[in-house]
Amino acid sequence: MTWLDISKEIERIKERGLYRKMRPYDSSQGPRVFSNGSSIINLSSNNYLGIAGSVELAEVAGNAIRDWGVGTSGSRLIGGTTRMHFDLEEEIASFKGEEASLAFNCGYMANVSTIPSLSGKEMTIYSDSLNHASIIDGCRLSKARVEIFKHGDLDELEKSIERYGNGMIVTDGVFSMTGEVAKLRKLRKIADDYNLLLYMDDAHGTGILGKSGRGTADYFNVKVDINMGTLSKAVGVQGGFVASSKERIDFLANTARGFIYSTAFPAAWAAAAIRGLELCKEEKRRKMLFHNVEYMREGLESLDLGQNMNGIPTPIIPVVLGGNNRVVKVSELMFKRGVFCHPIRYPTVPPNKEMLRITLMATHKEEDLDFALGALKEAIKEVGL
Ligand SMILES: Cc1ncc(COP(=O)(O)O)c(C=O)c1O
Repeated sequence: MTWLDISKEIERIKERGLYRKMRPYDSSQGPRVFSNGSSIINLSSNNYLGIAGSVELAEVAGNAIRDWGVGTSGSRLIGGTTRMHFDLEEEIASFKGEEASLAFNCGYMANVSTIPSLSGKEMTIYSDSLNHASIIDGCRLSKARVEIFKHGDLDELEKSIERYGNGMIVTDGVFSMTGEVAKLRKLRKIADDYNLLLYMDDAHGTGILGKSGRGTADYFNVKVDINMGTLSKAVGVQGGFVASSKERIDFLANTARGFIYSTAFPAAWAAAAIRGLELCKEEKRRKMLFHNVEYMREGLESLDLGQNMNGIPTPIIPVVLGGNNRVVKVSELMFKRGVFCHPIRYPTVPPNKEMLRITLMATHKEEDLDFALGALKEAIKEVGL
């Protein structure tokens, strides 16, 4: 038997410029974080509404820990479910305008569990090429045929459906790296025309788009069949969910392996997420966020980096630079100047689309954004772009 030569593999990862390191913060999530004793501007967080590090959510979670304890000591079907979990699932269903919902330990778990459960051997999953890794992994675990269509290319999608028939279209609502929004109305029409299910991952639309932040489906006034999302981004806590009809949710509770075979998350997460969802409904943070989005987009346009800033504004703004070493260098130079903006490389994005993924929060201040733009401009000049 030969073992994988891990040292060699790590060397190969480094040679390709794909080695990743973690940078620990010494503070809670916010528009500024502490790292190595200094305060840096944080442009790499999915804490879009700025509530993840809030005292309010911490207090709700703290009180719930006192009432319910920390661990749940059992999977959801075997003793790990508290009343709080049910309350959260009711709240999610009502927030999404669906009959019922099921909460998972994270969004990744929701996708890798739900997609295989809902797709049988005789079906085809039609998946956009820019869908999130958790969708890709859910497809890999499914027994169905998987057909990937070029990002947003609905002609290719239709041709594929005509060839393979019966199944489910899977799409991100807001694409996690480009910040683009799915062509949901057209996808709905195609799904209806061919009698397919429409599955949407709204990890980045939840709390952001639509009336009261209800998400991408609400933004387009379109109903999807499976409305998946996370509690770990705008909602500011942790966990994933799927909202849909009562029957589908009942089916998932009985078949989704990541739900069945994993210890339930703490009741304190559920309590905090219920509060997080209530905060999402308040208009004021989204207003502040979209003000910052416009401000940053204008600032980036004035840097003339050749980026396409059109489309529906979301808090994810990609600055595509192309080249692993290039994005890593620009990110490092920005960090030295006090701005954290993570470089995104393959396989998270396709080769040559390496980017800085700027994400904004409601709580960023204009002067922080000005400073960040200045740091980006200088870093790009220093790298010779
Ligand atoms: C589009 C998308 N789906 C799913 C996930 C997974 O969610 P979670 O972080 O809650 O596991 C993420 C982010 O990590 C994401 O960006």
